[in-house]
Amino acid sequence: MDPNLSDELARLPDLLDGIRRYAVEVLSGIADRPVAVPPQAPRPTPLSDSGMGTEGALERFRSHWAPGFSGSAGPRYLGFVTGGATPASLAGDWLTSTFDQNAVIAGDSSALALEREAVGWLRELFGLSAGHAGAFVTGATMSNFVGLALAREWAGERIGVSVARDGVAALGNLPVLSGSPHTSVYKALAMLGLGRGCVREVATLPDREAVDVDRLAAELSALNGRPGVVVANAGTVNTVDFDDLRAISALRRRYPFWLHVDAAFGGFAAVSPQYAELVAGLDEADSVCADLHKWLNVPYDSAIQFTRRRDLQVRIFQNSAAYLGLPTDDPDFMHLTPENSRRLRALPAWFTLAAYGRQGHREIVESDVALARELGERIEEMPHLRLLAPVRLNVVCFTLAGAPTTERVAELARTVTESGVAFLTPTVYKGTPGLRAAFSNWRTTDTDIVRIADVLRG
Ligand SMILES: Cc1ncc(COP(=O)(O)O)c(C=O)c1O
Repeated sequence: MDPNLSDELARLPDLLDGIRRYAVEVLSGIADRPVAVPPQAPRPTPLSDSGMGTEGALERFRSHWAPGFSGSAGPRYLGFVTGGATPASLAGDWLTSTFDQNAVIAGDSSALALEREAVGWLRELFGLSAGHAGAFVTGATMSNFVGLALAREWAGERIGVSVARDGVAALGNLPVLSGSPHTSVYKALAMLGLGRGCVREVATLPDREAVDVDRLAAELSALNGRPGVVVANAGTVNTVDFDDLRAISALRRRYPFWLHVDAAFGGFAAVSPQYAELVAGLDEADSVCADLHKWLNVPYDSAIQFTRRRDLQVRIFQNSAAYLGLPTDDPDFMHLTPENSRRLRALPAWFTLAAYGRQGHREIVESDVALARELGERIEEMPHLRLLAPVRLNVVCFTLAGAPTTERVAELARTVTESGVAFLTPTVYKGTPGLRAAFSNWRTTDTDIVRIADVLRG
């Protein structure tokens, strides 16, 4: 064994303790470090020949790289939709690497059974019935990818072809209808060989991002009985708007379509009795996407996909070989997801759900919504700003009063970033440039809102 490695094996407890102390130091200061650091990456160096050992690597990381890392795990990083990591989820993440299980195949470990337990807990959290089976994937993009792969296979089944066997050319065009699809839907369709061009954006309700269900029905009717796909949105990124899932699902009595719901973060409305109505009907979907590194507050990368048609999923994702075995009635995860070898990313989710339960996660959701509303109210009181939409859940979408330009909005975003206090991301809502402040971190409090409002006030 390399002398460095044999020495490190003997000193493993000390080494890990050093890393633990450093992690504690980072997390203790997470609320005070500049929230977003403009890139000033150190110059790359050549690969070292003999290596510097774990302590040397830590020192180099600490001095060279860590100062340029953002405070994205902290309370005022409001860009994109960014969750933090609860203490329990961090513990679960550390143990994922410690045990280093390959969560692929049962028979040598109970890791898969743990993943199944976590899937079951999440199914309950989102109010889905036992008809939905699920698996962990890396993010909502991959969850949408799996859901749309299922839609593609289902559409093939309707016309007597298996896309998994015969290829996507055997299917022909597949229309995908959606009101305000997330860009990851286009990306997934490109990867699936269906093409970004198969999306037909359906009109939304006036001043809303929610689809106009009458217009959707008209588009479905125009397909003249051809199978299609509807991607319904439960929580749009700009204004957290929700499609009427029950009304959309009811259209299946008249038209043949696969219903996929992108509930990446909006699905967490189900956790709170106050907001659960927003996702009423979610259970009726054929497939559901939910991200976990957003509002569940587990570290990257983690999401889940659910479907009622696991048989189709096995048809697509099965990976049978003599040494791996055939899928059974309760297929191993390698027959269900794009990955073959995969880390046990269920463990951080399992830890946080075991530690805080439904109630703890409900409190995170309700607190973030209350904070978003508070910021929204403060913005309404600022004469130089205006809301672009009511604060429906956890995102505040706003802009400059008057006629905002992309440049002036970008300047405001820069001012906020350079203050070190917060990080917001720009957007365009119905043609108007604006900013989004997305609340999905368990650490954020009233005090943070006061600081953010002070910076916005100028
Ligand atoms: C509604 C929605 N769908 C999909 C995604 C993609 O998520 P990820 O970056 O985890 O792949 C996002 C990310 O913000 C989202 O908000």
